[in-house]
Amino acid sequence: MTRLLKKIIGVICLSLIVLSCNQPNRVEETGNRYEARVDSVLSIMTLEEKIGQLNQYSLGSEFTGPGNKKGQDSIRYQQLISGQVGSVLNLLGAENTLKMQKLVVENTRLGIPLLFAYDVIHGYQTMFPVPLAESASWNLELMEKTAQAAAAESAASGLHWTFAPMIDVTVDARWGRVMEGAGEDPYLQSEIATARINGFQGNDLSHNKTIAATAKHFAGYGYAESGKDYNSVNINNYILHNHILPPFKAASEANAASFMNAFNDINAVPATANQYLLQDILRKKWNYDGVVVSDWNSIGELVNHGVSPDLKNAAKKAISAGSEIDMEGTAYIRNLASLVEEGEIDIAAIDKAVKHVLQLKFELGLFDDPFKYSNSERENEIVGNEMHHDLAEEIAKESIVLLKNERSLLPIKSAKNIAVIGPLAKDKDTPLGNWRAQAVANSAVSLYEGLEQTFPEDVNFEYAEGVELSIGPNNFFQEQVINERDKSGFEEAKALAKKSDLVIMALGETAYMSGEGRSRADIGLPGLQKELLKEIHAVNPNIILVLMNGRPLELSWEDENIPAILEAWHLGQRAGIAIAETLVGQNNPSGKLTMSFPRQVGQIPIYYNHKTTGRPSTAPGQVFYTHHTDVDNSPLYPFGFGLSYSKFDYRQIELSQNSMTEDEEIMATVTIQNTSEVDGQEIVQLYIQDLEAEETPMIKSLKAFQKVEVKAGQTVQVEFSIKKQMLSYYKSNGDLTLEKGDFRVFIGTNSTVEQYKKFELK
Ligand code: NOJ
Repeated sequence: MTRLLKKIIGVICLSLIVLSCNQPNRVEETGNRYEARVDSVLSIMTLEEKIGQLNQYSLGSEFTGPGNKKGQDSIRYQQLISGQVGSVLNLLGAENTLKMQKLVVENTRLGIPLLFAYDVIHGYQTMFPVPLAESASWNLELMEKTAQAAAAESAASGLHWTFAPMIDVTVDARWGRVMEGAGEDPYLQSEIATARINGFQGNDLSHNKTIAATAKHFAGYGYAESGKDYNSVNINNYILHNHILPPFKAASEANAASFMNAFNDINAVPATANQYLLQDILRKKWNYDGVVVSDWNSIGELVNHGVSPDLKNAAKKAISAGSEIDMEGTAYIRNLASLVEEGEIDIAAIDKAVKHVLQLKFELGLFDDPFKYSNSERENEIVGNEMHHDLAEEIAKESIVLLKNERSLLPIKSAKNIAVIGPLAKDKDTPLGNWRAQAVANSAVSLYEGLEQTFPEDVNFEYAEGVELSIGPNNFFQEQVINERDKSGFEEAKALAKKSDLVIMALGETAYMSGEGRSRADIGLPGLQKELLKEIHAVNPNIILVLMNGRPLELSWEDENIPAILEAWHLGQRAGIAIAETLVGQNNPSGKLTMSFPRQVGQIPIYYNHKTTGRPSTAPGQVFYTHHTDVDNSPLYPFGFGLSYSKFDYRQIELSQNSMTEDEEIMATVTIQNTSEVDGQEIVQLYIQDLEAEETPMIKSLKAFQKVEVKAGQTVQVEFSIKKQMLSYYKSNGDLTLEKGDFRVFIGTNSTVEQYKKFELK
């Protein structure tokens, strides 16, 4: 049969299948709503075509772009036009995606559309704060909105699928990818995962403003040993079930369209070939019905892990475990056919994987219209629009965390001559953060610009860089070179500081100092920044330190010596405005940390919800108790911590009853008064401590929170209901358990809250 004839027959078959069932009502549908059509498509596919659906490449526009036909001679091009590629990553833009989709739909026998995927982590072109920063807002509604906006921009550029959110709980700030997630707490991470997935996916994946989400990295990636990216993970099963897995369970319940493997091994089995994770937990326990994608060549890396002698064996292990799409590994396209022919794997494993891919394509509406997302007009209208920039500013303001404010130096009241010093003060690129998709380089509002736009005209700002931070490449692919020697800017900066009423110093990490592959052993201010800070401090101690960074930093000296410290992360498009409005008092900071900041790097891993241990230390100087002899046991800034220009007083917790059965609830109420003259928002946090359990419990765990507005001088009453779900935990064998006995409920302003009430579960 000629290729044309095959194509005609294939397309007729496929059209009959697609048209054979009425368009289902998506709102009412549940579960495998496309099962019949998926099965019909599967039934006319050859083995080669099936394997093609499981093959994903990162392809550029050289395959479709004008002038450059280089790619068209390649094996990949031939595979693309013969149905051996099911999804493509990193191809962008309405025009490019339209061309490539046409190429595939028109040339392949069945014309099955491609999926276009991309890492849309905190915005497509409009950059929102990096996820760790956004998480500090604890504002789920806003986080859902930013994901929604990112989805709208992506979908208008022809994309169907984002590799986000990253929901890896982590307790190690040395790991560069902490910027991509929501920190150390499983409950908060779960709530945020759900918000982001809902934002990306909406309630109709086929809508042209929504995209499929990915829960990644399944699982344990956030626990890379010593914070070194891609490193082994050594955790126990209690940590796995109580800290790592809950956000993934939440993602599964929120119907995240896909899950991504993690690079690491866990219990000595790489996550990509991990039957326990992918089958026992994901498919059997959670009934997850979406697609599982490998991480970049993580199937091929089974060879490096030392569990597979070659790529063929890696392919066998991965598909048997349930890794369904091979991202850039070529393991499946090269080996699955022969593995089936040799009887090494069951065709059922391939069919199951292909079904999940087809199902996603149906859900996205691609069988009805493969070109619906690639629309240049919509792209021009939606991408980078002003409303999205406004949203970026709104969430940036809520993401800022005030770490210190001695003598109420902030907000700035009377200073007229202000020195603005530091390598990040005029930086228009750093606030865009790493993992920035299609952000326009240098497009953020810098701090300096923000100050000039926001402050009254009679305030005079003068700038000195002080020191260069990065002197090497500044991009995703290369390591940055940090300036460790050149102090030539110090003198100018000191002279400026000396003659000024106040100094604002903008220090921290550039965008590419955190993120993938950016693990650091020393998490203090990089390069010569601390030295500069000390020298400026010696001539003018009136300093407001504005930090821009993607991870918790070690700031002990800064905390001891600098009167005001504002954590301003990598805040996205309008960072400078958000920071300046906070400094001048138009925005009252309300963010709270979602990761503990250590006093010293040697305290890592440091996190609030740890075990009591057999020898808990209760006071300094106790030799034979759990402690470091050379540093205070506590973090410098704990989980949940953040100051405000308002002052909030917490009254006694009231409980509706002192005991409950598992069918009952206890209402816990607390009254909060804003005793200041400034309206503010407070994030009220509820923690539970299980006083005795069969397996060693955590000292306390966040179980609920509310972000409330409290006007100056006013009081509000905040009410929580304590339910049995808040009192259960996972045993090391993975079973959820609820044990009778005594509990404490703490309600307060951060995780170090001491006031509690005791109650009993009967
Ligand atoms: C590797 C990263 O680990 C993953 O998160 C990302 O989605 C892929 N690369 C694709 O870029």
